[in-house]
Amino acid sequence: MINTVEYADGVVRMIDQTKLPNEKTYVNCYTIEDVGSAIKTMIIRGAPAIGVAAAMGVSLEANTIQGNNYDSFFAQLKEKCDILGQSRPTAVNLAWAIERMLRVVKENKALSMNVLKRRIRKEAMNIWEEDIAANKRIGSFGQALIDDGNTILTHCNAGALATAGYGTALGVVRGAVDAGKRVKVIANETRPFLQGARLTVWELKEDDIPVKLITDSMCGHFMKSGAVDRVVVGADRIASNGDVANKIGTYMVAVLAHRHNIPFYVAAPISTLDLSLASGDQIPIEERSAGEVVSINGKRIAPQGIEVGHPAFDITPHELVTGIITDKGVAYAPYTQSLRMLAEKK
Ligand code: MRU
Repeated sequence: MINTVEYADGVVRMIDQTKLPNEKTYVNCYTIEDVGSAIKTMIIRGAPAIGVAAAMGVSLEANTIQGNNYDSFFAQLKEKCDILGQSRPTAVNLAWAIERMLRVVKENKALSMNVLKRRIRKEAMNIWEEDIAANKRIGSFGQALIDDGNTILTHCNAGALATAGYGTALGVVRGAVDAGKRVKVIANETRPFLQGARLTVWELKEDDIPVKLITDSMCGHFMKSGAVDRVVVGADRIASNGDVANKIGTYMVAVLAHRHNIPFYVAAPISTLDLSLASGDQIPIEERSAGEVVSINGKRIAPQGIEVGHPAFDITPHELVTGIITDKGVAYAPYTQSLRMLAEKK
């Protein structure tokens, strides 16, 4: 079992994903600022994991605020939450988790400060627990779309490391394995941050699930040669029309899957839906540093003084998406109706 993020005794402890697979070390966060910085530097990454860590960060902050005045407590907490909310812009789970935490604070105004702080901590733990349960449901809905013997191509890391546990896209893989199906994974390395090479391959190897690592530019070749039966990826935000923001390169994979008639599935919890947005054009795309593109493992690979582009995510239009596997079931086109129905389902 991979413990991506834990919260006990006033410490949020997370696996340092910048160090994997060479070192399995942990980082301790004692303040909301520590959590914000871990999110920014990608010690923890992946939309659901970011949301869970943020919720725990809110609880850390709540515990440090002194005094018994509710209004002053709320104002101080809200100020820190607003800063935390800016750590990364694309994954909607960050804003979703912070909003949920603040809602609990507002709804429990009448509690004494100590009891309120315990309630806030409980909410963070609920978010953690619910995420694992949601991923298991995604796995069980998703595995029905996988046949025995299938090879599944994935991009980036949408596994246990990107969530509280089990994973979304890799949750579908784990669901298929748990159902007794023999599956293999092809993992795109995912330049420039190498989430595929460093993280997906590592966690599948830990679970003894067969995986082959390829560079991103090889995936068209493998699809053309018939080596890929399904594509399953995660998502950072899904607009109401089914457009999907996910790791840069996902759009390219979707276009190639379409060209080769390979089903392209997106696996994500309901908390990744942003039904307030009409389309993917409205999703903010994080621009990360040029340094991550011009260097690999700290070694410069490009000349100095050049122009570099680094959008960390892209948008896959809904027409290229075969289905969206959520924790409440699988949505199919037209997504505007199906996603809303799932979101409202109890
Ligand atoms: O930049 P990252 O590593 O946070 O990007 C992660 C992804 O794009 C994942 O596919 C997405 O967050 C889904 S994780 C279950």
